[in-house]
Amino acid sequence: MLLDTLIFDPSSCGFPRPRLPLLPIGFDGIAFAAPSAWAPTAHFRHFSRGRYALREAYRLAGIGPGSTLLAPAYHCRTMLDPALALGADVALYPLRSDLSPDLAALDALADSAPIPVRALLATHFFGLPRDFAALADWCAARRITLIEDASHAFFTEQHRPAGIGAYGAFVVSSPYKFLPSPDGGLLYAPEAGRLHDIVPRAPSWRDELAGIASFWQKAHSASRCDLAMLEAELTANAANPSPLASERHEFAGPSSDYRPEHAGRASLRLSRLLYRHPDIAAIASSRRKNYRRWTTATMNLPYCRPLYPELPDDCIPYMFPLLIEHPETHFYWLKRLGVPIWRWDSMAASTCPTATHYRLHLLHLPCHQSLNESKMDWIISALTKVGAGRTALLQACQ
Ligand SMILES: Cc1ncc(COP(=O)(O)O)c(C=O)c1O
Repeated sequence: MLLDTLIFDPSSCGFPRPRLPLLPIGFDGIAFAAPSAWAPTAHFRHFSRGRYALREAYRLAGIGPGSTLLAPAYHCRTMLDPALALGADVALYPLRSDLSPDLAALDALADSAPIPVRALLATHFFGLPRDFAALADWCAARRITLIEDASHAFFTEQHRPAGIGAYGAFVVSSPYKFLPSPDGGLLYAPEAGRLHDIVPRAPSWRDELAGIASFWQKAHSASRCDLAMLEAELTANAANPSPLASERHEFAGPSSDYRPEHAGRASLRLSRLLYRHPDIAAIASSRRKNYRRWTTATMNLPYCRPLYPELPDDCIPYMFPLLIEHPETHFYWLKRLGVPIWRWDSMAASTCPTATHYRLHLLHLPCHQSLNESKMDWIISALTKVGAGRTALLQACQ
């Protein structure tokens, strides 16, 4: 199936590389001690990324030609890629403004799907556990397989976050988002027997060596952020604005981030070694601290709003989601400064107002354990100055 997809192409903008890493690096979050796993290894399979773990979950749920996957309207393309690669249809279900599924709309969608719905993907966005009890009942009543997307949660063999993985027939996560490993995607099934036939193939030694090299290189990459230079850099960028990115609709299959040759391949040995040694308390404490710093810094700014100002107890956040009012300046200026940001600006089109708005307005800002106080100072200062700079520019024009 080809999906009507909105493509945001920033290649003409000349954005520099982020000056700070978007994900943890070095040995940050790694400990000598190895906590024990919370379930026998028979319940888990390791892949090189969450998207390939999703592929197996979809396949086991009956996703393929002649079936439909229900997926959240707000998504990154790699969540849909495996279903498209398997030849299935994808229908996007709308989300409320807090990114929870709209159950009433799901009813209408499932009733009107021309091709039978076999599976539903439900995401714990940004690592905040979402209660999927009602959704699980809804799926059970319709004989639809519920797949929990814990890609944003610190869900590994060594750590199961409260409230995550309780309802899905399959749970998928991306441990490389929490640990400084070169790759990693995890498939978990509460019924181990369902994974019986899945035997990921070992990566080649060449891949293993490339993983070690990438780990080493990231660990030694210097961050280039200087608080004293920010103001001057911002002024220089404002005087010389970058061209706007191109945006277009395209009927598209799987994105180029989905590599069919990587499907079925196990994660690297180095990654699995790192997963066995997480410093869970340190990761939780520094991520929660950075998240709270973000909340405090942005809560009262007029041009942005934290999506989730409250961090639930025990939750280990993935990123800090921030809604901005003026992406046409804020996003560009931040990118020009080299601020590490993610945004799902290319996604399948839908009628969901939340997804339509969040595509350009919702920034994903890092809060991981490799960001110490001075690095957080720099990013927060960049965001504050960019917002204030735009306000000053507008006033000057009035
Ligand atoms: C919510 C969500 N689910 C699934 C995926 C796929 O995970 P991975 O990057 O490990 O393939 C992503 C990608 O970042 C994601 O953000």
